[in-house]
Amino acid sequence: MSQSDINPNAAAYPTGSMVNGTTLFITGLHNAHAMETQAIQILSRQLDRLENYPDMEAQIRRHVAESEAQRARLDEVLATLEETHSMLKDSALGMVGNLMALAHTPAADEVIKNTLANYAFEHFEIAAYETLIAMADATGHTAGITAFRTSLKEEQLMAHWIHDHIAITTQKFLVLSEAGLKADR
Ligand SMILES: [Fe+2]
Repeated sequence: MSQSDINPNAAAYPTGSMVNGTTLFITGLHNAHAMETQAIQILSRQLDRLENYPDMEAQIRRHVAESEAQRARLDEVLATLEETHSMLKDSALGMVGNLMALAHTPAADEVIKNTLANYAFEHFEIAAYETLIAMADATGHTAGITAFRTSLKEEQLMAHWIHDHIAITTQKFLVLSEAGLKADR
């Protein structure tokens, strides 16, 4: 995997060149924006397909709304830096795309696959906000930190919710499957 597979903006910073922290912070904001766009798209697709797991559907619906608010917070911070975000850039997000390739694939155990992928994705998001907080702190761009902490807390709560529902979802999946009922989603 090349560096540009991980970070589509990486080519802008050849190894050994001098970059300033503000530029790296802005790149981090753009990447987080693209991450939230992916979250919204991936979770929204799952919403259409969760027929037998209404608690999960309701939770994902809540988190789609939270993710939209999180993306808006990133837009606000970018605006304070006189940066605007192009939605075009959001389509080129190599690593998260790979991470989520597991999700929303029609499969007999679709709900289980999505649970695993969503759990992983929330932790990717947690790490992304921790990084933004550290970068904002280190570069003196502290105005956005409260917003990042709000988003971080929401991602942590979503990760906890998924964790707390792994066993119950698996049990329901097994019961439905063994009864010959629709269990995949
Ligand atoms: Fe998020």
